[in-house]
Amino acid sequence: MSFKLAFIGFGRVGQSLAGLLNRKRNELKERYDLEPTVVGVSDIQLGSVMDPEGLDLPRLLQHARREGSLRGISAPEKGLSSLDTIRRSSADLVIEVTWSNLADAEPGLSHIRTALKKGCHVVTSNKGPIALKLRELQGLADGNGVQLGFEGTVLSGTPAIRLGREALLGGEILSIEGILNGTTNYILSEMERDVSYEEALEEAKRLGYAEADPTADVEAWDPTAKIVILANALMDCDLRIGDVEREGITGLSKDDLMKAIKQDRRVRLVARAVRTRDGVRASCKPEEIPLTSLLANIHGVTNAVVFGTDVQDEVALIGPGAGPQSAGYALLTDLIAIGRSMKR
Ligand code: HSE
Repeated sequence: MSFKLAFIGFGRVGQSLAGLLNRKRNELKERYDLEPTVVGVSDIQLGSVMDPEGLDLPRLLQHARREGSLRGISAPEKGLSSLDTIRRSSADLVIEVTWSNLADAEPGLSHIRTALKKGCHVVTSNKGPIALKLRELQGLADGNGVQLGFEGTVLSGTPAIRLGREALLGGEILSIEGILNGTTNYILSEMERDVSYEEALEEAKRLGYAEADPTADVEAWDPTAKIVILANALMDCDLRIGDVEREGITGLSKDDLMKAIKQDRRVRLVARAVRTRDGVRASCKPEEIPLTSLLANIHGVTNAVVFGTDVQDEVALIGPGAGPQSAGYALLTDLIAIGRSMKR
């Protein structure tokens, strides 16, 4: 099956997916009968190129990585805006990987709406549109007979959404708790090793874990958006970011962390959603948890999520929670899942 892809955004995450598509070309064909071609790329910094016959992936990557621009690539159409790329390309699947904006979800929201309305599948790791408008976007996808994949919005390439939606079949998810932000868990773990907050944050930025504006990480907006996404996708509710009790890690000192450890506890930024009689209640804040608990033993950029269901008390998933490599892999899993479902 041939898949025509358009990348909207071609930063580290988009390039990571492109690298995987290139490296796994044979495997995709042999194991999944998928032959994706890239027919358009539009990036606010790198420029945009479009070719209905397909663009050369290694060249795209080389220009993006070495020259920091796609402008040197020859293509029938160049310089289109991201929206025009979606409107005019021959893509049947749009990969939306622009920056995350939790205030009004733009420009990702307009990209995704436009693509779905046009009848294109969408895969995205962009948290803003999914945290703010999942119901609307899912309705648009359903109404247009296409799919919306957003695995990479939570726990990056560690498949939390797919586990909840597709593996825990027949069970009702009653609670979700987890460490949903790689940057802050990395910072807290480093501070426990006597590294300063500032140094740890700088390193998290360098490694590509942090958001473009790391306030989203350290003030817990990012994991708050993620618990909203998990709850809305898996617990049949319609939470807003403002419904979540939120507190970041900026008020914590090394002393606070060490004092907790002396009392056999550890401070972690824990996100929770719990079904109550009055609906789903959610929070995301630093908690002192017993050293014997699973979440107290999650270190560095690793994330974890624990689902409580009506038939099984706890089902846990642990894995990388941030970084371009992991986010690129999440997009690949969505793409393969869409390809598979189209063959049924
Ligand atoms: N900034 C996010 C994090 C990236 O640190 O978890 C992955 O969503």
